[in-house]
Amino acid sequence: MTSTPDLLQPRRSDFGPGFLWGCATSSYQIEGAVDADGRGASIWDRFCQRPGAIRDGSSGAVACDHYHRWEEDLDLMQRLGVNAYRFSIAWPRIQPDGRGKAEPRGLDFYSRLVDGLLRRGIQPWATLHHWDLPQALQDAGGWPHIGTVRAFVDYADVVTRHLGDRVKRWITHNEPWCTAFLGHHEGVHAPGVKDWKTSLQVLHHLLLSHGLAVPVIRRNSPGAMVGITLSLHPIEPAGDSAADAAAVRRHDGLRNRMFLDPLFNKGYPAETMALLGANAPNVLTGDLQAIAAPTDFLGVNYYFPEVVADAPGHGDIAARVVEREGVERTAFGWQVKPAGLVTLLRRIHADYGPRRIYITENGSTFDDVVQPDGSVPDLQRRSFLARHVEAARQAQAAGVPLHGYFAWSLLDNFEWAEGYTRRFGITHVDYATQRRTLKASGQWYAQFLRA
Ligand code: FCB
Repeated sequence: MTSTPDLLQPRRSDFGPGFLWGCATSSYQIEGAVDADGRGASIWDRFCQRPGAIRDGSSGAVACDHYHRWEEDLDLMQRLGVNAYRFSIAWPRIQPDGRGKAEPRGLDFYSRLVDGLLRRGIQPWATLHHWDLPQALQDAGGWPHIGTVRAFVDYADVVTRHLGDRVKRWITHNEPWCTAFLGHHEGVHAPGVKDWKTSLQVLHHLLLSHGLAVPVIRRNSPGAMVGITLSLHPIEPAGDSAADAAAVRRHDGLRNRMFLDPLFNKGYPAETMALLGANAPNVLTGDLQAIAAPTDFLGVNYYFPEVVADAPGHGDIAARVVEREGVERTAFGWQVKPAGLVTLLRRIHADYGPRRIYITENGSTFDDVVQPDGSVPDLQRRSFLARHVEAARQAQAAGVPLHGYFAWSLLDNFEWAEGYTRRFGITHVDYATQRRTLKASGQWYAQFLRA
């Protein structure tokens, strides 16, 4: 095996026959059709109206128009050769007001999608909440409010009663870190709240709603595998000082262990809770037991490692994320480090021992240039993909119970606060015509999957 990154050629057969190869998307990022078939408003519809909230002033109102083009998109996946597809269900299509009676047209859309996947031999992986909370629930208090926890469990019940006979892989939440901190502390994601203490209560309520939903999903979807997807990062020290090493530990507590520890029955990390002091979430009797409901897998979204320096006075955690000089980066500025995936997966396996791990997202954004003939030679993304697949192989060879990999994303799409300025797809989307074109990275994936 050569060490030239572009020439690293992992082979599908290295991963064993049952390994899942997929693509991931999320509802608000691709569906569009925000007024179709009784859909209610989500917090992202509202947030996009805020001047300055989205870099290009856009929204997910049309996005990839997947709501109307889903069959074409399923055909595309079939041509790619994936055997699994991770999508999310838009809560406001199912319960336009966030609670109560289900909207049958919303349920039917996902029902058709699931049947279409099964017909093509693609296993459906459904995420219940990928950030598009119904606006009505936000108006009633949102995630800081316990009522939203109850509403989520009810919504999970409605969806899994309807689709649980055919969907057997369920993810409760996508990346609760983002909802908690980007949505409620930094305010750069919906609902755009900036309050530190509130963000920690949101963290707790997301995990609690996950734990309470797990038994409900199991009841409605016999034989299903249920899990949650976290955004996780290996954390590296900026320098060799003992102070930076201690900062890494503190930052890791907030970034990773505040999620992993309670999910794997260790409770919240005492050290982090002590640092948070009065800002720590309010945890009631029984909450931790609920959060630790046994799951079948952990979904890991890996994009980049974080480099951290000691920063006295910098918030409760007194640590700061810094940029390392001279490293490879995506157009987003995220460091490219495939080896970080190996480190991360080995650590999760050693410290928490989830039964199974799936990489539920991994991908990159670069400034794609469409050639006159329509092709998109995204060689950097292709290299990113190939090297991370190789890293996944190394993790598996090291004993990590890794069972699948989902590339982010099937399509270029609405990248949240970045609007349409960032393309993550292995398929190019011409937003004016909605034409889809497989990029060089997508062609590499197809070839890898065929071999
Ligand atoms: C993840 C999100 C996903 C997408 C990628 C780039 O944090 O889960 O929706 O935006 O980042």
